[in-house]
Amino acid sequence: MSRRRQIYEGKAKILYEGPEPGTLIQYFKDDATAFNAEKKGTISGKGVINNRVSEHIFTLLGNIGIPSHFIRRLNMREQLVKQVEIVPIEVIVRNVAAGSLSKRLGIEEGTPLPHTLLEYCYKDDSLGDPLVAEEHIACFGWATQDEMQDISAMAIRINDFMAGLFAGIGIKLVDFKLEFGRLFDGDFSRIILADEISPDGCRLWDMETNEKLDKDRFRRDLGGEAEAYQEVARRLGLFPEGGPSEVHDLDSERKKRGK
Ligand code: TMP
Ligand code: ASP
Repeated sequence: MSRRRQIYEGKAKILYEGPEPGTLIQYFKDDATAFNAEKKGTISGKGVINNRVSEHIFTLLGNIGIPSHFIRRLNMREQLVKQVEIVPIEVIVRNVAAGSLSKRLGIEEGTPLPHTLLEYCYKDDSLGDPLVAEEHIACFGWATQDEMQDISAMAIRINDFMAGLFAGIGIKLVDFKLEFGRLFDGDFSRIILADEISPDGCRLWDMETNEKLDKDRFRRDLGGEAEAYQEVARRLGLFPEGGPSEVHDLDSERKKRGK
C-alpha cells in the first residue's frame, strides 16, 4: 500500500505524515473494536462511509464557526488534517440515557435526560479509558481550566447543531464522543475539534422505531452494521465517492457473502 511514514495506528484509523509540515493524512479502516478491543471485527465499507460522514459533519460545523483539524478529503478512505496534540480526554455528550451511563446508574436505556450531560474519560487504553471528573483533569494537568471551558462550550454547540441535523433526517442523537487537540502557533496553542464524527462514536436511533443505526449493532451482535452505516450516510444525502454505484457495490459485496 502506501510508502508514507506512518505516525500512529489506532483501532479504526491510521495517521500518516502529511504532504506539508503540520499536516497529517488520516486513513479510515474497516476495522471495528468494542469493549477496549476485547471484541474485534470488520464492518465492510465502514472506513469509506466514516470518512465521508465525518467530512460532511466537520464541514458543516466549520460553517457555524467550530474550528477543527479537518482540511479536506483526499479520496475514499483518507483526509488531510492539521497535526494537533490530542488532549487525552474523551468528551461524551449525552441527550438520552444509554450504554455505560444506563449501566452505571441503573437508568433505563432510552430515558431522555433533563438536560445535556457532559462526561469525560481519560484516554488510556491500558486503564480502559476511565470516567474522570473535571477535578482530576485539573489535578493531573491533562487540560487547563481555560481549555476545558473551550472544550465544554464547543461540545454543547456541536451537540445543538448535530441534534438538529439528525432530527431533520429522522434520527435521534442519543450520545456521542468527541476528541479535541491543541493547534500550536509558536508558543501559543488553541483548542480545535479533532478525530472523527461518525456512527462509530455516536448512538443514532431511528426516531420512529428506535432502531440502532450505529456501532451498537456491532457491540451487541445485532447484525446489519454495514447497512446501518449506509443508511445514515444515505439519509445525510451522502454516497461514497463515485456516487450511488459505490453503495451498490457494497450491496453486491454483501449479497456475495450471502447476508
Ligand atoms: P458509552 O455509553 O459506552 O460510555 O459510550 C458513549 C458514547 O461514546 C457512545 O456514542 C459511543 C462513544 N464511545 C466511543 O466513541 N469510544 C469509546 O471508546 C467509548 C467507550 C464510547
Ligand atoms: N472503540 C472502543 C474500543 O475498542 C470502544 C467502543 O467504541 O465501544 O474499545
